[in-house]
Amino acid sequence: MEKVIVTHSVEETKLIAKKLIHELSVGDVVLLSGDLGAGKTTFVGGVMEELGYKGHVISPTFNILKCYFEVTPHIYHIDAYRLEDQNIDIGLEEYIEGDGIAFIEWPKFIEPLIPNKHLNIVITRVDDNTRQIVISSTHPSYERLLNSFEAK
Ligand SMILES: Nc1ncnc2c1ncn2[C@@H]1O[C@H](COP(=O)(O)OP(=O)(O)OP(=O)(O)O)[C@@H](O)[C@H]1O
Ligand SMILES: [Mg+2]
Repeated sequence: MEKVIVTHSVEETKLIAKKLIHELSVGDVVLLSGDLGAGKTTFVGGVMEELGYKGHVISPTFNILKCYFEVTPHIYHIDAYRLEDQNIDIGLEEYIEGDGIAFIEWPKFIEPLIPNKHLNIVITRVDDNTRQIVISSTHPSYERLLNSFEAK
């Protein structure tokens, strides 16, 4: 099952994220796929805004992992881009299906660490300000979440 949403601005993309976070719970794993500059970090920025975080959300590309313990639920923002062809055994397991919600950019680089139960978000650049966001899961527990998004 999947939902396809088209957004026309950063704010609209963040709005999807702000709605999504209320449908998620501790232990959930959200995979964010799409090219460089697609809007993956922007999406996590929307999540953090909704949780009341006042800081600036940047891609944790150079650190791989950024933990937001100051919000509830805890958010673990992983960017696996730099792990391509590297040893991925750096202890990320603790943050995936851990005591918070994990948002993972470039999940294909840490595939062995991805649990079966996860939500897929694929963002595609259509033009400068337009993005296609496809939310899907093969896991039955996300059916309700997917139904909460109107098909467009
Ligand atoms: N509708 C939109 N939704 C999201 N971002 C948009 C949209 N329109 C334009 N943008 C721009 O696209 C860029 C998205 O950058 P972002 O850092 O979120 O990408 P990313 O997918 O995390 O890339 P990377 O793989 O390099 O980390 C930003 O510059 C943002 O302003
Ligand atoms: Mg990013």
